[in-house]
Amino acid sequence: MNSKVPIGVIGFGSMGQLHARNAIKLGLFEIKAVSDIDENALKVAKTEFKVNNTYSSYLDLLDRKDIEAVIITTPPSTHAKIISDASKYGKHILCEKPFTTNFKEAQVVYSSIVKNKVKFQLGLVLRYTKTYNVLLNYLSNEVKLLGLQGRYGGYLISYKPHFDRTFDRGMVNSNTIHLIDIIHYLAGNINEVYVKFNPSFPKEPELSGIISFVHKNGLISNLYTSGAMRVESFLFVNTLSKDYLVESNIKLFEITDKGKTQILSSELGFEEELTAFYNYLVNGIPTQSGVEDAMKLSYLMEKVYESASKGKPVRL
Ligand SMILES: NC(=O)c1ccc[n+]([C@@H]2O[C@H](COP(=O)([O-])OP(=O)(O)OC[C@H]3O[C@@H](n4cnc5c(N)ncnc54)[C@H](O)[C@@H]3O)[C@@H](O)[C@H]2O)c1
Repeated sequence: MNSKVPIGVIGFGSMGQLHARNAIKLGLFEIKAVSDIDENALKVAKTEFKVNNTYSSYLDLLDRKDIEAVIITTPPSTHAKIISDASKYGKHILCEKPFTTNFKEAQVVYSSIVKNKVKFQLGLVLRYTKTYNVLLNYLSNEVKLLGLQGRYGGYLISYKPHFDRTFDRGMVNSNTIHLIDIIHYLAGNINEVYVKFNPSFPKEPELSGIISFVHKNGLISNLYTSGAMRVESFLFVNTLSKDYLVESNIKLFEITDKGKTQILSSELGFEEELTAFYNYLVNGIPTQSGVEDAMKLSYLMEKVYESASKGKPVRL
């Protein structure tokens, strides 16, 4: 029988609790401690999750010798500092996306992770979601990929974190990053980005945007995003022989001239993501979203914002 990895969770809001619930359900991790600056979150950890060791300073959690790894689920604006500190304490890390709020921070954090030789996985749940893995497999057998078109949104405009720069850089870094990463994952490296955000950007955070990528293989993908959309997200993938459609990240359809057929419906891959982290730590199986992937994505996001600020295409 596999032994459980002793972990700490830093940031016990919605995502911290979601990962903690899955960690307990999967039986792969033992939650030794929780840290949050909010007393109520610590109360939840004690009463609902039966975690006895709770700290308002995450440094006290990192100081525990019995913790091998941490899950970081704090606001993105705090990631750079907390990841750097965790790596200095020699803790392996699973950190929710985005890696950091900008590329400059990412470079500092990268050095700390590499220097301290800790394992790092970025929480990119869609890479672990069955729909996209099955799609990736189909695409590897396709004669030719012609293009990708996506729409991402589905959150009400009242969801504050997407527009609050004390939480993150903005909606695209906080939310659309999921589909940007998947487009990059499915269609390969990107040479050029061309981005338009709402006219009040950069004075105001982006509330909507059109994002185009030119991939190294010549393919073009387009993505429309809006924080005000009350509709589900989708991604169309056009190939020479047939088209695919992913709805809400979890339903995969095949489209031919005979019509639209559902291939599968899956859950978001949060459990698979945690299992991959365990396998990375215990069995040395490389993660699908390691520190190099985090850096690539962070650089791409920097170029997305640069293009929107300059109002012209930017090469990578
Ligand atoms: N993968 C996904 O689908 C997904 C979905 C939502 C959020 N996220 C990401 O998860 C992270 C957390 O988002 P959330 O929605 O859970 O936010 P949240 O506001 O619900 O939770 C964040 C928690 O961190 C705590 N916190 C803040 N600063 C802290 C510090 N210095 N030390 C310890 N705790 C601290 C807050 O008190 C809060 O309880 C973000 O990076 C976000 O982008 C990912």
